[in-house]
Amino acid sequence: MTAKTRIALSSDHAAIDLRRAIAAHITAQGYEAIDIGPTSPESTHYPQHGAAAANLVASGDCDLGIILCGTGQGIMMAANKVKGIRCGVCSDTFSAQMIREHNDANMLSLGARIVDEAQALQIVDAFLGAQFEGGRHATRVDMITALEA
Ligand code: RB5
Repeated sequence: MTAKTRIALSSDHAAIDLRRAIAAHITAQGYEAIDIGPTSPESTHYPQHGAAAANLVASGDCDLGIILCGTGQGIMMAANKVKGIRCGVCSDTFSAQMIREHNDANMLSLGARIVDEAQALQIVDAFLGAQFEGGRHATRVDMITALEA
C-alpha cells in the first residue's frame, strides 16, 4: 500500500495507548488514520469495536484496518465475522508480511498485552509494507471467500 491509504483503527480499553501510538506512527508515514476509538479507558466490549472497524474496511470506506485488544484474539474473531474481512493476529513481523502476501489480509490484529510498542510498530510496518502476491494464493483466498456464501 502507498501513502494516503486509509487505515481504520479501533481497540478495546486494553489497547488505547498502543492504538494511539500506531495512529501517530502511520500518520507520520503519510497514511490516513481513521481512528474510531474508544477514547475512554473504561472497560468496554471488543466485539463492537472490531465490528465497527471491519465495517469500514468491508464497505470500502477504508483500505485496511488495524485493531487491538489485550491479546488481539477476541477483536480479531469479531472482525472476521464481517463479510469480506480477512484479519489475522500477529506478534511477529514475518506473519504480518505473510498475511498480506499470501492471505490478502485486509485487517491486522495486535495484542497490547502480548507485544510492546516497538514490536507493534515493526509488525504494523511489515503489514503495511507488503503486497498480495495473487497467483496460486488468489485461488485459496477465493476459497475462503466462498465459505461466506
Ligand atoms: C479484556 O480484558 C480482554 O479480554 C480483551 O482485551 C481481549 O484480550 C480479548 O480477546
